[in-house]
Amino acid sequence: MEPNIFTTYMQSKTVFKGNKDILRPTYIPEQLPHREDYINDMASIMVTALRGNRPSNVLIFGKTGTGKTAVVRYLEREVERLKKEDLDSEFEYEFDEFNVERVKYVYINCEVVDTHYGVMKNIGNKFMNEWSEQIPFTGWPMEKVYESLKERIDEEPRVVVIILDELDKLVSKSGDSVLYHLSKINSELKQSKVSLIGISNNLKFTEFLDPRVRSRLGEEKLIFPPYNADQLKDILSERVERAFKSDEVMSDDVVALCAALAAQEHGDARRALDLLRVATEIAEREQCPSVDTNHVYKAKNKIEQDCVREAVITLPTHSKNVMYAILLSRVNGFKKLTTGEVYAAYKEISIVSGMDPLTQRRITDIISELDMLGLVNARVKSFGRRGRTKEIQPSVPELETIRTIEQDENIVPVKTLRTFEEPRQMKLI
Ligand SMILES: Nc1ncnc2c1ncn2[C@@H]1O[C@H](COP(=O)(O)OP(=O)(O)OP(=O)(O)O)[C@@H](O)[C@H]1O
Ligand SMILES: [Mg+2]
Repeated sequence: MEPNIFTTYMQSKTVFKGNKDILRPTYIPEQLPHREDYINDMASIMVTALRGNRPSNVLIFGKTGTGKTAVVRYLEREVERLKKEDLDSEFEYEFDEFNVERVKYVYINCEVVDTHYGVMKNIGNKFMNEWSEQIPFTGWPMEKVYESLKERIDEEPRVVVIILDELDKLVSKSGDSVLYHLSKINSELKQSKVSLIGISNNLKFTEFLDPRVRSRLGEEKLIFPPYNADQLKDILSERVERAFKSDEVMSDDVVALCAALAAQEHGDARRALDLLRVATEIAEREQCPSVDTNHVYKAKNKIEQDCVREAVITLPTHSKNVMYAILLSRVNGFKKLTTGEVYAAYKEISIVSGMDPLTQRRITDIISELDMLGLVNARVKSFGRRGRTKEIQPSVPELETIRTIEQDENIVPVKTLRTFEEPRQMKLI
């Protein structure tokens, strides 16, 4: 029989004998090392719900990858587990005062659902019964959605805990009207109670809230600090133990390196896990029987390149053209560019691609945005009394990024520009 194209891959040694999903960010681990205190804090707030009372609203802050989502999803799973547990276990007597069945946990990721209507619809549709109508994607007046939501929640006495993850995204896109309505809903319910848990990685977002909403929402505040290298090592080790059957697959060095690299950035557990997972995939592709530190360095490069790619691909067209101008100038021998030079190249690129160029003022703003995204480095250089100018250079790999930009169908690939042929004008300073 002809060998199948996949046979070689299928026969190759795979370092993953266990469960690959364990290294994925969506997996909720059995334990969350170094978050026990926060889990306990949250549990002590939420036990109120099991007693049939309304827990305080909570705001959780913390940088990306500090375990915010993991902690709330962990608690959600614990509540569900309580429901499943046989109530006539040895805890029977103590359970009497708790009413687990009446607690409803609703998780909404506001990065995905980012409109007032969408959030209300999603919550409402979590409370369906045989005779209730699905709230449609669009079309109902807001007032009707809200009334229907209240009716459904209040159908029987319950305590509803609504988790709004990535809340800052919702507020920056759609304002705080969702929070306004949800935080005052209790005064309009007869037998049910609603409590809110808002999660954000931006501490400042509450400044944009109506003061009433801010004070209702922030009854309790928790701030998750970044992890340090040792903590990340514990988190990774725990996962590695579960993910791989044998401990020969990965040495302690590999785990320590992933932890150290992620701690250098800002203590992001997601980044640490990504490094480990990508390193494992690279080792697997290279058909190595185990993962070593070289694979981790390769993984780091790959992840960084993917981030740059992602950032460049999602730029608006004019910003892409500005980035393109900076990169092309660089490969044409311009080391450090002034705003004027970037503008000249940008203008020519725009004209070649049949677009109306924006003003130099707008381009100055776009350059600052690119700087904030880490795609270019724009330093203000002062010449004392003779004024200041910006020195701009790309901070990403030039040729690769040019290739990424040229993949955009709105961008017309440019080989040479007149701007580069003209001798650089000497400045009179
Ligand atoms: N203490 C921990 N123990 C085990 N895994 C953890 C821990 N903290 C975070 N993780 C894992 O790290 C990844 C990122 O964590 P999580 O999604 O909770 O971050 P986050 O704080 O919600 O970040 P973001 O603000 O970007 O949403 C997840 O895969 C999560 O399982
Ligand atoms: Mg999260």
